Amino acid sequence: MPEIRLEHVTKRFEKFVAVDDLNLHINEHDFITLLGPSGCGKTTTLRMIAGLETPTEGKITIGDKVVFDAATGVNVSPAKRDIGFLFQNYALWPHMTVYQNIAFGLENLKWKKEDIKVRVQEMLKMLKIEEFVGRYPAELSGGQQQRVAIARTLAPKPQVLFMDEPLSNLDAKLRSEMRTELKRLHSDSNSTFVYVTHDQLEAMTLATKICLMEKGVLQQYDPPLTVYSEPANRFVADFVGNPTMNFINAKVSDSVVEFLGVKAKFTPNDPKEKISASEVILGIRPEFFTIKEGGKIKATAYSTLPSGMETTVKVKLADELISSVVFGAIDYKVDQPIDCDIIGDQICIFDKESTKRVSIGKLEVL
Ligand SMILES: Nc1ncnc2c1ncn2[C@@H]1O[C@H](COP(=O)(O)OP(=O)(O)O)[C@@H](O)[C@H]1O
Ligand SMILES: [Mg+2]
Repeated sequence: MPEIRLEHVTKRFEKFVAVDDLNLHINEHDFITLLGPSGCGKTTTLRMIAGLETPTEGKITIGDKVVFDAATGVNVSPAKRDIGFLFQNYALWPHMTVYQNIAFGLENLKWKKEDIKVRVQEMLKMLKIEEFVGRYPAELSGGQQQRVAIARTLAPKPQVLFMDEPLSNLDAKLRSEMRTELKRLHSDSNSTFVYVTHDQLEAMTLATKICLMEKGVLQQYDPPLTVYSEPANRFVADFVGNPTMNFINAKVSDSVVEFLGVKAKFTPNDPKEKISASEVILGIRPEFFTIKEGGKIKATAYSTLPSGMETTVKVKLADELISSVVFGAIDYKVDQPIDCDIIGDQICIFDKESTKRVSIGKLEVL
């Protein structure tokens, strides 16, 4: 299980910069998700590590082997990088049975016949496709084909497994099942997983660390809950979480924050942090903007969206709408007056110009 290091990796397609000076250290046995909107450079990054795309600049190391270095001209071929792939459009060989599809790669690697048999059985069991062993791909559902593709990819025990949106063709239920399987597979296999997705929920639930990119530039590289609770900037805060974080323009002076007719005292978790700007953006996750009797913020319910386990309430405050998520099924009447409060110590303050997070802490309504 090698670690992977990218140092100052840049990829330009003529003048267009697809990946910009990326530094990334993937530890052994990590499950990394490359996350970001379409076109931000995820696939390009994956392909560069795999050796399918040549970086314009930089250096890539897998384990103790330099596989690419623009400075010295080293460029190891994909086949010699010991990497397994699983792409968005996995193509099984249509004229081969499930067994043959999984065994094929092992035969190419000149594994012994008995060893192949044992390994294929292991894979069939792990992915729960034993009963389909003699079928052809056309005789399988999309989800079953997907599992065969995963089995085929994992069979040679690649030290590093790359997946590019492998679940995008599946329906919601199967996707959720496959996520569970992939996470389990990761702990069972000891391999390092690098997984591309544009789906923040998928990235949050699977990864040990999220690498969030925008326009080729790394925005944050941290464990999912850190990305969620301590976003580096407004883009990250906005991209992760559903419903999204509330962003509210606010004025600050002497740690008193004013917004939408509300005055509140801000206490940073790190007492050394001082907010120098007078105009900021306040970032409040919906679960920290709560509705409770006696809350000091007087607002009204604009609309209520119960989803069973939880309810999203759009709260109207000084003509702006704020999302609030409350546990359980509640139904407020339209325009019903409600009392609200701000809780927790994860209230973010972003600089208005740079959009970087400048502080995080408690907000006590005065
Ligand atoms: N071969 C190529 N030639 C020119 N531009 C490319 C090429 N491959 C990718 N790009 C561009 O680089 C950017 C990043 O692409 P990609 O890595 O596929 O994004 P993602 O996987 O995050 O959706 C996109 O704007 C894409 O159009
Ligand atoms: Mg892509």
